Amino acid sequence: MIEPIQLISKEDRQSALIRAGYNLFGINSEEIFIDLLTDSGTGAMSQEQWSALMIGDESYAGSRSYFRLADTMKEIFGFQNFVPTHQGRAAETILCSLLLKDGQSVPSNTHFDTTDANIRAKKGVPVNLVIDSAYDPNDKYPFKGNMDLVKLENFIADTGVDNIPFGMLTITNNAGGGQPVSMENIQAVSAIYRKNNIPFFIDACRYAENAYFIKLRESGYSEKSPKEIAREIFTHADGATMSAKKDGNANIGGFLAMNDENLYLRAGNELILREGFLTYGGLAGRDLDAIAVGLREGLDEKYLAYRLAQTAYLADKLTESDIPIMNPPGGHAVYVDAKTFLPHIPPHEFPAQALCVELFLEGGIRSVEIGSVMFAYLNTKTGEVVYPRLELVRLALPRRVYTQSHLDYVADTLAGIKTRKDSLRGLKIVYAPELLRHFTARFEPENL
Ligand SMILES: Cc1ncc(COP(=O)(O)O)c(C=O)c1O
Repeated sequence: MIEPIQLISKEDRQSALIRAGYNLFGINSEEIFIDLLTDSGTGAMSQEQWSALMIGDESYAGSRSYFRLADTMKEIFGFQNFVPTHQGRAAETILCSLLLKDGQSVPSNTHFDTTDANIRAKKGVPVNLVIDSAYDPNDKYPFKGNMDLVKLENFIADTGVDNIPFGMLTITNNAGGGQPVSMENIQAVSAIYRKNNIPFFIDACRYAENAYFIKLRESGYSEKSPKEIAREIFTHADGATMSAKKDGNANIGGFLAMNDENLYLRAGNELILREGFLTYGGLAGRDLDAIAVGLREGLDEKYLAYRLAQTAYLADKLTESDIPIMNPPGGHAVYVDAKTFLPHIPPHEFPAQALCVELFLEGGIRSVEIGSVMFAYLNTKTGEVVYPRLELVRLALPRRVYTQSHLDYVADTLAGIKTRKDSLRGLKIVYAPELLRHFTARFEPENL
């Protein structure tokens, strides 16, 4: 699918920023030249997906589309049961509604924003136990998404199994730079959860990229296909949440999968209440078909090689221009290390948000902040704001959309900003909701 893009004038970009309260989520798509806000649902569907849409069966119950998706699900993930949902967060909401009680904790390597917020919305505590090297942008350890096993064991011992209704692991670790988790780590995390009878759910959004990283980087896997590796990953878990808008290569969709029959029955009731009947969730039949095809395509080795090469290309271009990034580059995005790039802007003035704003003003490029806007929170016990350790600007690459020259333009724009980066100013928040504030917060430049 070809879409026209246009670079509007700098004056119009400035007006758009003021109108949007310096929040890139408030900018309209026609005002954007290159849109790297997210890889979620923004990819281009293939000809097979477009043709699959045409055979979508829109029956309310028991549609053929559902069974085609169910066959794919069995083949790739192997869980006994699943419910389709309209996107990943709906699967998280159902899981949290069924399992989480006030004050209970859910450990993971790093919860992404919607998971974090779904847990908090149920008055639970999201706990991030990723290895320390995840916080060092220059540490090139190949599996920086790994859970710290000692931290996990200690956390379970300190918190008590009764206060941990389920445990998670995000593959790849989006909030930590799109970094993969090794099979060895997945297996070890599973063993710890199982030893403690804690149900283990994988946040599988980018499981195919993670599987390909395992193939490339972990010994014993070079001869296995991404699909075989994926199958092995999920044998270690009791279930998964997934947004099909990522490695499902679809524009909408997701699922909650599980082996536990009783949990499936309860999830089904929640689904009917919130999303729709068991065989369509919040989706049209044609969406189910697009996902079934997209999931298979997402595991194609040639496609995954292109995907990771594109990310690596942008990362190399930025490194050539001495733009600090999270190393090694992740699967779906390159993350600029705004803390190092803009050391004169403190976390409470949101350095990564300031860089996102400048990227749009300078080049019409939309990116997203993954730093203090997204993850700082008020510790109600101490009354202090707790800031995350990383201030990142994520340049997420939509699947099968942009070419190398688009990426060159992005790298050149950042290199241009670098020459006058000391003049960039921080921002202050003038409006923010309590949860998921990055979507709708409004800002003003500091020292206006
Ligand atoms: C790791 C991870 N988990 C969960 C989600 C939520 O998925 P959705 O946006 O489909 O609700 C996302 C979306 O960005 C994600 O990256």
